[in-house]
Amino acid sequence: VSESFDIVAATGSYAVHIEAGAFADWLADWRQDIILADDYFQTSLSNLQATNIALYYPASESTKSLNEAPELIERLRRCGANRQTRIVAIGGGVIQDLTAFAASIYMRGVPWIYVPTTILAMVDSCIGGKSSINVGPYKNLVGTFHPPRKVFIDPQLARTLPLDQQASGIIEAAKICFCRGPESFRAYLACNPYPGMATEALATLIAHSLREKKWFIETDEFDQKERLLLNFGHTFGHAIEGASHYSISHGIAVGLGILCAIAFVRQDKEFDGKNPYGASPVVAQLEKHLTSLLKAVPELRQHVASLSLKEVLDRFESDKKHKQDSYVLVLAETSGEVVLKKIVKTPESRNRIETAIRSVVESYAR
Ligand SMILES: NC(=O)c1ccc[n+]([C@@H]2O[C@H](COP(=O)([O-])OP(=O)(O)OC[C@H]3O[C@@H](n4cnc5c(N)ncnc54)[C@H](O)[C@@H]3O)[C@@H](O)[C@H]2O)c1
Ligand SMILES: [Zn+2]
Repeated sequence: VSESFDIVAATGSYAVHIEAGAFADWLADWRQDIILADDYFQTSLSNLQATNIALYYPASESTKSLNEAPELIERLRRCGANRQTRIVAIGGGVIQDLTAFAASIYMRGVPWIYVPTTILAMVDSCIGGKSSINVGPYKNLVGTFHPPRKVFIDPQLARTLPLDQQASGIIEAAKICFCRGPESFRAYLACNPYPGMATEALATLIAHSLREKKWFIETDEFDQKERLLLNFGHTFGHAIEGASHYSISHGIAVGLGILCAIAFVRQDKEFDGKNPYGASPVVAQLEKHLTSLLKAVPELRQHVASLSLKEVLDRFESDKKHKQDSYVLVLAETSGEVVLKKIVKTPESRNRIETAIRSVVESYAR
C-alpha cells in the first residue's frame, strides 16, 4: 500500500509519499546525490550503497547548532556540491534541521529531499518547511523556511526506534489531531496508537496526522494564527524538556505539557463560562490516552522525579512567546476547541501555573 499527496507552499508544492518497505528501492535512485544521514544508519547504508557521497552526523542537539554549520558547508564544497546538487537527508528532526538549514543557505539555496526516520519526524516535522538551529545555550533560536522537494516516508524504518522515541512521536500526532478537532481526534484514536504498533497501522496514523497538519500549514504557512495552535502543550512542555536537561524527549515533554495545560484550565472556574471540563468527554479522552502512552515510557518516573520545580517554572516564565504583562498559552476549551489565550500575569495566575505543573509532576514522579 502506498499513498501520496502534495503540500502547497509559498516556494512551490512538494509531494509526500508513504510506502512501507520501499527505502532500499528509493536509495538506488539517489546515487548522484549527496546523502546526509544520522550516524545510526552508517553501517546499514554503507552495506546498501557504495557509490554515494555520504556524510554522517550524530543526532544530538550540538549537531544542529550554528557553530557546526560552517564545517558542514565546507564539507559540501569539498564534495563538489554545486547549485544542481541535491542533498538527501536521512534521519530524525536533528538531521532534518541541519540539512534544511544548510540547503537553504548553501550557494543561496540547493534542493533537498527528506527521508524521516523517527515517528516524530514522520507524523509532524517532515512537512512545514522550517529549520530550527541552536545558538549557544538557546534552542531553535535561528532558522529558515526551506521545504524539501519531496518527502519519502517508509514507516518500517521506525521499527528500530526505542519505545520512548516512539511514544514521543505518537504524542505529537495526538496533539495535531486533537488541535484539528474532535472528529480528527476520533480518527486518530481509531488507529489504536501505541509504541510498538504494527507497521500498517503506523502508516495509516502517519497519513492521517500529516493530512491534518497539512491543513494548518497550508492555511497559515508562516505562523500567524492557526498554525500557532499547534503549540498546544509546548510552553509547559519546553519548560519540562529543558529542566530535565533533555533527558525527557520532546514529545514526552509535550505530553506532560498538555496535561499541565489541562490542569491549569481545570482550576479556572470561569474559563469558558462553564464548569471547566465538567462534561468534556473529548478532553477526558485525550487525558486518558496521553496517560496510557506516558506509562509506556519506562524511565519517565525517574526523570520526572529528578526535575526541579523551580527550574521548570523559571523556564516557563522566560518563554519567548509570553508578553510583558501576560502569558500566551494555547488551551483547550470544554468543547475540545483549542484556542490561543492571553492570561494576565498576577500572583493568582502564577499560582495556578505552579499548581498545574506541580500536580502533573507529582503524579508522574510517583
Ligand atoms: N524544524 C521543525 O519543524 C521541527 C519540528 C519538531 C522538532 N524539531 C527538532 O527535531 C529534533 C528532534 O528530532 P527527533 O525527535 O525526530 O529525533 P532525533 O533526530 O533527535 O533522533 C532521536 C534519536 O533516535 C535515533 N534514531 C533516529 N532514527 C532512528 C531509527 N530509525 N532507529 C533507531 N534509532 C533512530 C537518533 O540517532 C537519536 O538517537 C529536535 O532538535 C527538535 O528541535 C524540528
Ligand atoms: Zn513539538
